[in-house]
Amino acid sequence: MNLSIVILAAGQGKRMGSDLPKVLQPLAGKPLLYHVIACARDVGAADICVVYGHGGEHVQAAFAEPSLRWALQAEQLGTGHAVMQAVPEMPDDHRVLVLYGDVPLLRPATLRRLIDACGDDDAAVLTVNADDPFGYGRIVRDGDKVLRSVEEKDATEVERTIAEINTGVFCCPADKLKGWLKRLGNDNRQGEYYLTDVIGIAVADGVSVHGIKADSWVEIMGINDKKQLAEAERALQHRRAEALMSQGVGLADPARLDIRGTLTCGKDVYIDVNAIFEGDVILGDNVRIESNNLIRDSEIGAGTVVHSNCHIEGAATGPDCEIGPFARLRPGAELADTVKVGNFVEIKKSTVATGSKVNHLTYIGDTDIGRKVNVGAGTITCNYDGANKHRTTIGDGAFIGSGVELVAPVEIGAGATIGAGSTISKFAPPDELTVQRSRQTTIKNWQAPRKKDK
Ligand code: UD1
Ligand code: CA
Repeated sequence: MNLSIVILAAGQGKRMGSDLPKVLQPLAGKPLLYHVIACARDVGAADICVVYGHGGEHVQAAFAEPSLRWALQAEQLGTGHAVMQAVPEMPDDHRVLVLYGDVPLLRPATLRRLIDACGDDDAAVLTVNADDPFGYGRIVRDGDKVLRSVEEKDATEVERTIAEINTGVFCCPADKLKGWLKRLGNDNRQGEYYLTDVIGIAVADGVSVHGIKADSWVEIMGINDKKQLAEAERALQHRRAEALMSQGVGLADPARLDIRGTLTCGKDVYIDVNAIFEGDVILGDNVRIESNNLIRDSEIGAGTVVHSNCHIEGAATGPDCEIGPFARLRPGAELADTVKVGNFVEIKKSTVATGSKVNHLTYIGDTDIGRKVNVGAGTITCNYDGANKHRTTIGDGAFIGSGVELVAPVEIGAGATIGAGSTISKFAPPDELTVQRSRQTTIKNWQAPRKKDK
């Protein structure tokens, strides 16, 4: 049976205290709704419809995917009313699963359990046992059999003592749901059309509603404010850390790791505390990431060590490099193998070939560095003339002395030595020493200035 998924996302989310619609608030670097859509795709939805309301244009703009359907709920008259907006275009022979844009941690495996229990003709509701069920809808059972769901505000004293709550996640055949929604009323304490009333209507029609319990509270947690958002963030990061460790990655502290995208690790990778990975990051075998690193959309070659406090973005290193501490690799930095980039070195749109070293206080931009080059401390490629960027080329085996300025476009021949403190703006021939600086003079009998008498 094909699966249609409805994601309710019309809520305003006032408690976020933000101009950004609730479902666009970021969790692990992606909007809340992104996680729900990813889960929906994972369980193989043939059709996904997002019910939107407040801030809808922004939400739609953030998910410009042609395969998503959108249904406007202009007025928020309840969860049942929200689902009504999505069902008219839904094929009768589909099974419908209702999810929520602000419940981002549901696992596909849990949903599969729910869908399996639903079968072709029954219905299924996801429940969980709550330590504090206050505020949630309660699942009323007769033995094992689910009878109905009752909202906190409409519940009797006795019903309020029930610990099993309704998560709101519900699954049933589309044709049946369409009929049940038509029979919903809003004669309740909130004057809303409750989706949860569908459970009692189904049972009255002789349809079995299976109550399936989620394994953890975290999975069904709805996000309403920044505190819950932070809780969900930690829970998701913990999940990711566990997955890495079970795959063999060493983590100094699973609670101090943040993955805001996808992190792919080889064998025997070790990650020290406070590493942040954003976008797509690949760490090869035996990579070691020391403390306090931010690595975004980059690939780190096998055996490379990234020492503490580096900022790496859009870069790639070959195997066995040593980066940092305090290095910055910017987009287009491509290092071959056994390259060393030391402290306070910035590299942008440049290639550095095998075995070269750029160890201290240096800016390398728009440059191609050959093999076994040594770039001295404080060297700067002057790649920008105020209007255009120009390239610098440094041949194999060149030795650039400390404090050199390389004014691009410029080329340093292979094996050339550049004297410390030189400003090089013309070709420096291979295997020769090129120096550009005035002779050192000493002024005889020079008097140091003295303070004036008052
Ligand atoms: C709902 C359930 C309750 C359950 C709880 C779990 C109902 C009537 N109650 O209560 O049994 O325990 O979730 O968290 O369904 N929404 C719309 N349009 C609307 C109303 C809501 O899109 O007109 C969306 C909201 O954005 C939100 C979700 O549906 O994401 C839940 O709505 P909310 O009003 O928060 O329901 P609860 O009172 O939490
Ligand atoms: Ca809620």
